[in-house]
Amino acid sequence: MTLFIVLWLIASLVIGLFGLILFFDGKKLPPWLTVIYKYGKLLRDLNNEERSVSGLLLIRWIQVPKRYFSHFYGIAVILHLIVLLSSLFHVDSVRQILNTPLNLLFGAYKYDGVNVYLFFLLSMIHIFRRFIESVFIAVPSFAKINLIHYLTGIGFYISIALYNANNLFSTVLITQDRPYLYTVGLIFYVIGQVLQFHSHKILSELRRRNDKPRGKAGYYLPHGGLFEFVSCPNYFSELVIYSGLYMLTNLNANWLAILIWVYSNQIVASLLNHKWYKQAFGSRYPARRKAIIPYIL
Ligand SMILES: NC(=O)c1ccc[n+]([C@@H]2O[C@H](COP(=O)([O-])OP(=O)(O)OC[C@H]3O[C@@H](n4cnc5c(N)ncnc54)[C@H](OP(=O)(O)O)[C@@H]3O)[C@@H](O)[C@H]2O)c1
Repeated sequence: MTLFIVLWLIASLVIGLFGLILFFDGKKLPPWLTVIYKYGKLLRDLNNEERSVSGLLLIRWIQVPKRYFSHFYGIAVILHLIVLLSSLFHVDSVRQILNTPLNLLFGAYKYDGVNVYLFFLLSMIHIFRRFIESVFIAVPSFAKINLIHYLTGIGFYISIALYNANNLFSTVLITQDRPYLYTVGLIFYVIGQVLQFHSHKILSELRRRNDKPRGKAGYYLPHGGLFEFVSCPNYFSELVIYSGLYMLTNLNANWLAILIWVYSNQIVASLLNHKWYKQAFGSRYPARRKAIIPYIL
């Protein structure tokens, strides 16, 4: 087991556990912790105790605008470009700088999934698409995340870049011939991309249509596409995309740790968002809509 796996499993356990306690009985957690855990629309409806701690200087101080999500993707695109160019043009200084952290995180692990450059390209397309979406399509609001979310987001995308750097820089085993697995993985990946883009477009259109006067950023009841089945189709798509990539790595254990993190934080976030929607829209909220997985959860 690599250090990379251990770190992402611990992070998944912590985020998943706190999130589930918050979902089932938030009163079991101290209000300062629930305020730190919540972000975006979930910070809008705080109870009295949470509201009094959210006024504390320290908690306000560690909050940053949620539109800073774009930094995650911007940083990830730059890191991927550096890794790709230094691999193609044999820039030894970058390899030397990364040598120690990569050895520490991945040890003797060797990638043996679909063509290593194809995997790299697919990771980059996803990150680049999210960058474009978050800068040009999303309608930004005054919503907040805190420094812990922000640093975790940056850590996540640095991890993806390091995973890809390790694959590119180290000896790759001969790619195993798993045409069915790779085809299914690619289908998952493409469907996930289309669904996620469509869901983000629906969310941004809601604000373009309804935010009057301009500058007011509200939350509305989304309709259309997968929103007819779940409250968070963008999170569902994230699960589909990362599952597809997992198949393309030939079920690699390091990517499995990334996948567990994505499942753990997106499922918990969807449960909390689903609860928020039901409270905010009451009987107007479609009863058959689930949180994240159509007909199931
Ligand atoms: N891989 C990972 O570990 C990971 C972790 C977190 C997120 N993500 C991905 O990052 C993407 C963004 O995540 P997120 O948590 O920001 O998603 P989100 O809360 O659904 O927000 C997406 C965008 O839609 C807006 N929005 C959300 N609900 C709305 C509503 N009811 N009416 C109008 N606008 C609404 C948000 O505005 P506000 O900014 O004002 O809330 C934001 O601009 C998602 O695709 C998610 O899958 C991935």
